[in-house]
Amino acid sequence: MTDIDVLLSESRRFPPPADFTADAQVRDRTLHAAAAADDVAYWADQASTLLWQRPWDTALEWTPPHARWFTGGQLNVSENCLDRHLAAGRGNKAAIVWEGEPGDRRTLTYWELAREVRTFANVLLGLGVRKGDRVGIYLPLIPEAAIAMLACARIGAIHSVVFGGFSPESLRDRMNDAAASVVITADGGYRRGQVVPLKRNTDKALAECPSVRHVVVVQRRSTGPIGDAHVEMVEGRDHWYHELMRKASDVCAPAAMDAEDVLFILYTSGTTGKPKGIVHTTGGYLVGAASSTRMVFDLREDDVFWCTADVGWITGHTYLVYGPLANGATCVMYEGAPDWPERDRFWDLCARHGVTILYTAPTAIRAFMKWGDEHPRRHDLSRLRLLGSVGEPINPEAWMWYHEVIGGGRCPIVDTWWQTETGSIVLSPLPGVTTTKPGSATEPLPGYRAALLDAAAGEIPVGGGLLALTRPWPSMLRTIWGDDARYVQTYFSKWPDRPDLYFPGDGAKRDEDGYFWVLGRVDDVLNVAGHRIGTMEVESALVEHPAVAEAAVVGKAHEVKGQAICAFVTLRDGHTPTSALRDDLRSFVATKIGALARPDDLLFSADLPKTRSGKIMRRLLRDIAEGRALGDTTTLADPSVVAALKDQYADQEG
Ligand code: PRX
Repeated sequence: MTDIDVLLSESRRFPPPADFTADAQVRDRTLHAAAAADDVAYWADQASTLLWQRPWDTALEWTPPHARWFTGGQLNVSENCLDRHLAAGRGNKAAIVWEGEPGDRRTLTYWELAREVRTFANVLLGLGVRKGDRVGIYLPLIPEAAIAMLACARIGAIHSVVFGGFSPESLRDRMNDAAASVVITADGGYRRGQVVPLKRNTDKALAECPSVRHVVVVQRRSTGPIGDAHVEMVEGRDHWYHELMRKASDVCAPAAMDAEDVLFILYTSGTTGKPKGIVHTTGGYLVGAASSTRMVFDLREDDVFWCTADVGWITGHTYLVYGPLANGATCVMYEGAPDWPERDRFWDLCARHGVTILYTAPTAIRAFMKWGDEHPRRHDLSRLRLLGSVGEPINPEAWMWYHEVIGGGRCPIVDTWWQTETGSIVLSPLPGVTTTKPGSATEPLPGYRAALLDAAAGEIPVGGGLLALTRPWPSMLRTIWGDDARYVQTYFSKWPDRPDLYFPGDGAKRDEDGYFWVLGRVDDVLNVAGHRIGTMEVESALVEHPAVAEAAVVGKAHEVKGQAICAFVTLRDGHTPTSALRDDLRSFVATKIGALARPDDLLFSADLPKTRSGKIMRRLLRDIAEGRALGDTTTLADPSVVAALKDQYADQEG
């Protein structure tokens, strides 16, 4: 049986528990029906739950493939996430309950968070940051990351958060692409007991970032011992966060932002060597983030919501910061690794902070399964009432384990499909409404429309095909920063006669009940531990190494990570394939992109199998990567094996 057959033979059904539905935010299909009848009116209703400084004139202007939502309207995201709650009496409610990896803790109430945000907004203004300017954020997962994002939003600066695990070169490229004027970083952060030297990385990156005039450095040491992350401050350019904060006023009115003003840029991998800057705007994004958080996670006033993602990813933007804070929720934020210092860290956190809603990734769930039930069993997880999954397809086995061992059989699971580009969740059960099936993200949320299409844009009611979103939605990306042609080409050119259809790059199946089963990318993008990595990106990094002539990168199935990176490399004359060189090349990629892109396997090959037209046959390489041919081969693959395979496939592909 193929994977698809296995998935579709999945016959378990989990209707929402009656007691859950009784108290749920959404209890029936009224919203689905209303949105199906008039999606624009539905979105206008959702938008009206936010605080607008000026009401919008037009809910949607749709000139495919460009959408503008709530035009004429003005609002401020930080005002919606903070001031609104102070006015509603939530000032003393915990907004962020933070824990550092070493065990240091901080709780910020809405009142305190609002004060920090206003003060830091003044710091940014003092450094010359103005509306529309780009600000880089390269921080560990500490409250200052959320403070910095919200402070940018307060004054209308555009933030570009770069995951702390990315390399100096990745930071450099992102800062240059957006021409950022300020970077906010820290002396260091903690990951698995190690110090991540963020400031030192920033210094390396900034050697080649002419647009950056100022660097603000958060002293992580003030919240825990940072070890050896000694930093050097560049006179005139670098400033300590705490010193600037001490001098700044905490009075700062929220800027009036047009709904279509850019809120942030977030870079993500595509099919070329260059990550693309996904552009999200103020009004539509917040409408999508706020409404999906409320409905999918069924937020209630006393919930403790823990989204385990880092702010460096879209999940951290939408469901760790903007969505929960727009709803006045209490969010748990944890800096470090799930197995530090022990493999029960997550469960310890859940129990101690009374987490009621947990949102994490299948790769983590598979790791927990492997580590054994004894770790969660040691902790009281009885306050959990809802579980979420995101980032990649969740295999039914992992779903069942999550349901039984973590959720005690009582918590609904929301398997949420979406992307950096969609801004908010698109396909997902509503926990009080939808009967779930392990492995299926079920159906579009109210207001979204999805279809399964063939190459000619014909709809496939039951079976396999390409996933498409057939209507614009408020939190959709507006463009790719500085490259609108690439936006059109990547997302709206799959079906040339239908420039209104959005193509997310995923293949999916649809069953007799209309449920969607997302299978994964159909392009040259890998999903490694829930992180998107373009094969071309890794290839471009490899060929920058002086020993490498050519490189081809494919994904192979991996028990925990979903996919692992496998690289095939041919060397330039004069270089010998040794295991030392292999290690060197793997580290080289980690240095170029970040540790998450380090190839798991690297195979030297005298030649790469290509079609007659010179195209590398990735399908064949995937076969080799997933099969016996790789095994323990440490250095040189038998070129004749590759050659034989090449011959075998050449005719088919040529
Ligand atoms: O392939 C899909 C997969 O992750 C991709 C989006 O990656 P990224 O932009 O990094 O955002 C990840 C977090 C939203 C999608 O194109 N993906 C995400 N969630 C799911 C998923 N695949 C299957 N099921 C999911 N629930």
